Amino acid sequence: MRVLSGVQPSGTLHIGNYFGAIRQFVKLQQDHECFYFLADLHALTTVNDGGQLRALIRDLATAFLALGLDPQRSTLYRQSDIPEVLELSWMLSTVTSMGLLQRCHSYKDKVAQGMVPNHGLFAYPVLMAADILIVQSDLVPVGKDQKQHLEVTRDIASSFHATYGIEVFTLPDPLIMENVAVVPGVDGRKMSKSYGNTIDIFGPENQVRKRMMSIVTDSTPVESPKPTADNALYDLLQVFAPENDREWVRRAFAEGGVGYGEMKKRLFGYFLETFNDARRRYAELKQDPGEVERILLAGAERTREVVTPLMEQLRRVTGLK
Ligand code: ADP
Ligand code: TRP
Repeated sequence: MRVLSGVQPSGTLHIGNYFGAIRQFVKLQQDHECFYFLADLHALTTVNDGGQLRALIRDLATAFLALGLDPQRSTLYRQSDIPEVLELSWMLSTVTSMGLLQRCHSYKDKVAQGMVPNHGLFAYPVLMAADILIVQSDLVPVGKDQKQHLEVTRDIASSFHATYGIEVFTLPDPLIMENVAVVPGVDGRKMSKSYGNTIDIFGPENQVRKRMMSIVTDSTPVESPKPTADNALYDLLQVFAPENDREWVRRAFAEGGVGYGEMKKRLFGYFLETFNDARRRYAELKQDPGEVERILLAGAERTREVVTPLMEQLRRVTGLK
């Protein structure tokens, strides 16, 4: 089974991204052939500052490695290092109906929020289909919000097959990461860079501590039991507490006597235990950008071994060769 997924370098990596996506990517590489890429072309739909995008790409690549994506097990690459993706994207565009893209929720949501859409945003799902189809992936691990894009990918592939009368593409299945908890942000809403409520995995220690101390809580007195429903601090403790501290967390909420301030300090301790090794590796890799670049280029070379024969076939099928 070949697995592929991509992450946009459009913001600093937060703990929601780790528990919601990257942790699964790391697990999958143990028994699957995995391709993970930095979706820098997609990021152009939201990041329009060259220096900023370059820095975000470098940071995300470093974070992938620090968090355990292993270049010996997985192929890690930058989307724009495979320009054939854009060639395929155009071929796919010509068999994609406008209606299919007009029905996409993520596009409609952004327009509803008042964004003036450009063609890149509209065509986003076609480029995503090209990412997926070009490496012939069987499984695509994504969050629920991306499920429709996988359906669109299958529709586009089928439409290409019907148009040219030949089945060249592998139809991918989504691996929807449903059972992963939605990690709440410091304000209690879903943690998301667009809400400004994130806790960054690789932020400076004092910044992380400050963010944790700012988690919104109610005014239950120290000695009283604390509510667990809609309590971001409780949910974050559930995400982070090691097995043998679960009971402490349960009792702290059920019995009272532990203030929110003390719980936040615990949470900070768990955060450091969880991410200390990754944070150390991140700091080391930051000193060695050449190594990160070498890994990405080796990943692109490996990806091209898969891409080249397919693209040759596609150029023949379409008549471009
Ligand atoms: P953001 O919401 O910060 O813009 P992205 O949409 O770039 O994050 O998400 C990248 C990946 O991280 C997706 O697979 C998404 O499902 C996952 N993810 C993002 N936020 C959370 C969260 N709060 N809880 C769980 N998973 C999340
Ligand atoms: N659209 C995805 C997201 O925002 C990122 C992405 C781009 C992707 N191309 C992909 C994910 C191909 C999986 C497969 O999260």
